Amino acid sequence: MQMLTRLQEARSLDPVSDRLQAAVTGTVKPQRLRDVLQGIWLGHPLHPALVQVPVSAFLSAAVLDLIPGRGRARAATTLIAVGIGTAAPAIAAGLLDWSQMTRDRRRVGLVHAAANTVALGLYAASLAARLGGRDTRGKSLGFAGLSAAGLGAYLGGHLSYAQGAGTNQAVPEIARIPEDWTSVGSLSSLPEGKTTVRTVGDVPVLLYRTGSHVTALIERCGHETGPLGEGEIVGAGPDACVVCPWHGSTFRLADGTVVHGPAASDQPVVPVRVHDGRVELRQP
Ligand code: FES
Repeated sequence: MQMLTRLQEARSLDPVSDRLQAAVTGTVKPQRLRDVLQGIWLGHPLHPALVQVPVSAFLSAAVLDLIPGRGRARAATTLIAVGIGTAAPAIAAGLLDWSQMTRDRRRVGLVHAAANTVALGLYAASLAARLGGRDTRGKSLGFAGLSAAGLGAYLGGHLSYAQGAGTNQAVPEIARIPEDWTSVGSLSSLPEGKTTVRTVGDVPVLLYRTGSHVTALIERCGHETGPLGEGEIVGAGPDACVVCPWHGSTFRLADGTVVHGPAASDQPVVPVRVHDGRVELRQP
C-alpha cells in the first residue's frame, strides 16, 4: 500500500515522535514496571493482549446500539464506560513498546496512537451524551469512535504484520543454521567467561564458555537485531547475562531467558556439542 509506505517514510513526523519518545522514556523509569508493561512475564508483548478489553467493550456497545430497547442502551453505556476505564494500561504498554522502536515504525505508531486518542475522545463525548440522556447523539459519537478505533487497529496490524514490530527478530535466523553438526572452532579458542561471536552457515552466533561447557544464542537481539556480541556481560556462572547495547534487553547466557526488556521473549538458543575438542552447532 503506497499510503502506508509514505507514512513509514514521513520524516516530517520525527520532531513530534522524538519529543514524545523522550517524554515516555523519561516518565516510565522503574525497571520492574517496564518489564511488567512490556510482557516479560508473559513471553509476548502485553499491549496487544490489553487492547482486547476496550476494543471488545466498544464493539459490543456498537452492536447493542443497533438494537432498539432502553435496557440495551443502558448496557451500551456501561460497556463504553468499561472501554474507557480499561484503556489506560493498554495505552501505557503501547507507548512503552513504541518508544523503543525504529524510526519508521514509530511514524506509523504515532498515527496509530493519534487515531486511538481521537477514538477515546469520541467515546468520552459519547458517554457524556448518554449520561445526559442524549442517546441518539451518544450513539453517533460511539460509531464515530469505532471508525477512528478501526483506523487505529488497521495501522496497528500494519506495524505488527508488515513492519514486524513486537515479533522476535532473531527467530528467522534459526532456519539458516545448518541442520547437521557444524564446527565453529576449537574449545580452547573460546575465552573463559566471555562471549565470542562465530558464524555458522551465514548466521552470527554468540558463544559463551564456562569450563568445558559452551552455550550458544543467536547473536542478533530478538528486539530490534542489536549486536549482542558488543553487549556487556553482567553476573557470573549460570546467572551470567548479556545486555544488548541498543536498548538494554538482558538475556541469560545459559538458556536465552529474557531477564529485562524491552524484548518480551527469550533469545533463541542454538544446540551445542563439544566433539573431539571442536565446538559444533546445529539447528534445533
Ligand atoms: S535491539 Fe533493542 S534491546 Fe536489543
